[in-house]
Amino acid sequence: MLRTVVLLVTCSSVLYDVRGYPDALFNGAARMRACDNLSPNHGVGPQMSPSPYLLDVNFPYWMPDEGLSLTLKGLNGNSFRGFMIQARTRRTPSKMIGHFVTVDGTRTNCEGNRALTHSNNDDKHFLRLRWNAPSTVLSGDVQFLYTVVKDKNTFWVNQTSAFLPTYYDYVARPDTTTPTDKYQISAAHPISTNISLFIILLALLF
Ligand SMILES: *[C@@H]1O[C@H](CO)[C@@H](O)[C@H](O)[C@H]1NC(C)=O
Ligand SMILES: *[C@@H]1O[C@H](CO)[C@@H](O)[C@H](O)[C@H]1NC(C)=O
Repeated sequence: MLRTVVLLVTCSSVLYDVRGYPDALFNGAARMRACDNLSPNHGVGPQMSPSPYLLDVNFPYWMPDEGLSLTLKGLNGNSFRGFMIQARTRRTPSKMIGHFVTVDGTRTNCEGNRALTHSNNDDKHFLRLRWNAPSTVLSGDVQFLYTVVKDKNTFWVNQTSAFLPTYYDYVARPDTTTPTDKYQISAAHPISTNISLFIILLALLF
């Protein structure tokens, strides 16, 4: 459907000890636990400061059988080597829902391969991801949970997106009427007509 992008980078010099071990960031025996707590279990605690990473989701709602585009990106020059992302619902947060499409540098893992993680430790500027929704709306509100690993000892765990309602719930909520407009095709808006008229006038003048 849609997407967004942005990116920046930084080079950190500690690549050394994780290079060549793609799984080192969410590794082996620890992986099961990582699926539950989104923690890379590196033996050091997560960063408590605000995360310098952002997850853009291209719609404020989801629809059954449709995909959502997500962009995971670093702010202020921050790159990342590892990540994990999952979708869970408000109703049954113990279960992951939907599926991520693998893109370069990623692979699926965890229960039913419903989570997505990195497949190499290269510094990434941003990743454009796609999540395919389940085929019924029964699951209700969906939230993306994600962990971003800058380097072995620096990571932010369990960051969360806003809850995304189903499209049907979204349009039914009075307080979301205005944001909905934002996502409608704007061709019919009077303002666009005015801009078009203005451009035509300009063209006629020159
Ligand atoms: C992750 O964050 C969500 C939302 O704050 C919370 O409900 C959930 O318990 C957290 N999961 C873990 C494993 O900390
Ligand atoms: C153009 O702008 C005016 C003033 O904002 C507005 O009243 C009008 O509806 C807009 N559209 C057209 C087609 O003139």
